[in-house]
Amino acid sequence: MMTFEGSHILSVSQFDREAISKILTVSAQMAPYAMRQKRCHVLEGAILNNLFFEPSTRTRVSFGTAFNLLGGFVRETVGEENSSLSKGESLFDTARVISGYSDVIAMRHPKMHSVSEFATGSSVPVINGGDGANEHPTQALLDLFTIESEMKPFGRTLDGLHITLMGDLKHGRTVHSLSKLLSLYNNITVTMIAPDALQMPDNVIATLENAGHKVILTNTVEGNLDCDVIYQTRIQQERFASPGEADLYRGHFSLNREIYQQYCQAHTVIMHPLPRDSRPEANELDTDLNDLDNLAIFRQAQNGVLVRMALFALTLGVENSLTKYEKPITWYTNKAG
Ligand code: NCD
Repeated sequence: MMTFEGSHILSVSQFDREAISKILTVSAQMAPYAMRQKRCHVLEGAILNNLFFEPSTRTRVSFGTAFNLLGGFVRETVGEENSSLSKGESLFDTARVISGYSDVIAMRHPKMHSVSEFATGSSVPVINGGDGANEHPTQALLDLFTIESEMKPFGRTLDGLHITLMGDLKHGRTVHSLSKLLSLYNNITVTMIAPDALQMPDNVIATLENAGHKVILTNTVEGNLDCDVIYQTRIQQERFASPGEADLYRGHFSLNREIYQQYCQAHTVIMHPLPRDSRPEANELDTDLNDLDNLAIFRQAQNGVLVRMALFALTLGVENSLTKYEKPITWYTNKAG
C-alpha cells in the first residue's frame, strides 16, 4: 500500500483499493469528532495553509474545518489577484516559501496540473483541492464514502453499482476523478448523460472500459435514470470560451420530483458535488426534491469534513493516535449522534 505520511495527494491515480479502504476507514473514525461527541486535538500546533486561487465554498471551508477539528491552525489565501502569482511569481517559488510556513497545504487553482507543479516546490504534503478541469481527488473520495454509506441500508456495496453521471462531464473534474476511482471496483455500470459536446473525455471512458466496466453514453434523460445513484453536475460556466456558450447547455437535464418518480428506482440516491445551479434557467436539482430521503447532497457535503480530516491525519502520520488525544466536549451542541 502507498505510504501516506509525508505524501502529496494530487490524483486519484495514486490510490489502489487498499489505500482507498484505509482512507474510508479513517474517515469513519472521524465521525464522533465531527459530530461533537468528543474532540481530538492530535494536530494541536500544526499549520494548514489553504491556497484557493479559484472560487470555492465547501472545499475551502471543509478543509479548514477539518484541520481545526483536529486542533490545528488554518491560514488562508483566497484569489490569485491577492497573491504574488499575479506579480509573475512561479508556482514553484510560492510553494518553496509557503511550505516553509506550513505543515500541510491544500490548494485549488484554475490551471490543469498546476497543483502537481506547485508540489514540486513544496517541502510539506500538498493536497489537490481541484486543478482546473483535471481532477478533484478529495471530492471523489468523499463521493465514494457517500455512495458506500448510502448503499449500505439497501444491502449494496460499490461492487456491482450502476451510477448515472449527468451534466457537464467534459469540464467537471469531480466526475473525472470519481470515474477513475470507480474503475478500481468490480462490475460497475456507468451511464453518462451529457450534451454531445460535453461528453466525458475519452481517456476517462477508456479507464473504465479497460477495467472491464460497462459505459453507456447518451444525451437523453428519459429511460436512462434506472440506476442506484444519480450524480448530477453543474455546467462549468467558467471553463467555456464565453458565457454565451455555457448558456446553450443550461437546463437540459433539470431533475425534479416528477422525473425522479417516473424514471428512477425506489432506492435511487441523488448526489451532486454542489454548488447546484438553482437559477430558473438551470435548476439542476429542483427544491421539490429537498425532503426526499434519497437526496444525499447535504450528507455528501458533510462527509467532506470526515474525509479531509482523514487525509490530514494520514499525511501527517497521526491516524493511530486519535484516541490518545481525545477530550470531552464542554459546550452546548445539538448535533445528532
Ligand atoms: C465542484 C468543483 O469545484 O469542482 N465543487 C466542489 O468542490 N464541491 C463542482 C462544481 O463547482 O461544479
